[in-house]
Amino acid sequence: MEALDAIMTRRSVRKFEDRQIPDEILEKIILAGTYAPSALGIQPWAFVVVQDQGFLKKVSEYCIPILLSHMKGSGEGMSQIFKEMLESKNFSLYYNAPTVILIVGQSKNRFKDIDCSLCAENMMLAAHALGIGSCFVGATDPAYENKELMAGFKIPEGYSPIGTIVFGYPLETPEAEGKIPPKIVRV
Ligand SMILES: Cc1cc2nc3c(=O)[nH]c(=O)nc-3n(C[C@H](O)[C@H](O)[C@H](O)COP(=O)(O)O)c2cc1C
Repeated sequence: MEALDAIMTRRSVRKFEDRQIPDEILEKIILAGTYAPSALGIQPWAFVVVQDQGFLKKVSEYCIPILLSHMKGSGEGMSQIFKEMLESKNFSLYYNAPTVILIVGQSKNRFKDIDCSLCAENMMLAAHALGIGSCFVGATDPAYENKELMAGFKIPEGYSPIGTIVFGYPLETPEAEGKIPPKIVRV
């Protein structure tokens, strides 16, 4: 797949087949992440691959009520749709994807958020090019405050969580919706 095609046709996928992604494909996706640019070339990322569905259920069930309490009062557009999803029975923040990757960044690196975000997009584009659907799930963040729960992620010493991405074989091919034309200023 051409780079521009991958960029323009990647969409967040939230429905997945019930089969695991082979390790060699996951390794390719992670490797593509590590080819992202990073400040001073430090590459401050590491990857926690989670395939334990019981653990993901636990994290999801912990986060959902906290997310809902943060959303009290917000009732429009996308946040209303997300709120309804969170309230629906058996909803999982991870859409029952077979693999979730938590990207973590070196805690003391001041560019870790930017570097790891660039890495994340590389991974999602690479996944798309390899026929794998993905969705960045920022909604894990309430869990980051819970030491006991976070111990289950086995984050390497000196790293902090940046965000989770779900991966799986797609059962849907969403269209681009609501893309806003770029605001461009010329100087
Ligand atoms: C920082 C960030 C956090 C996100 N968190 C979630 C999330 O928790 N759950 C979810 O379903 N999608 C999440 N998304 C995906 C966005 O909803 C999605 O990228 C956006 O609607 C645009 O759609 P597209 O990815 O198909 O272009 C997140 C995306 C980003 C960049």
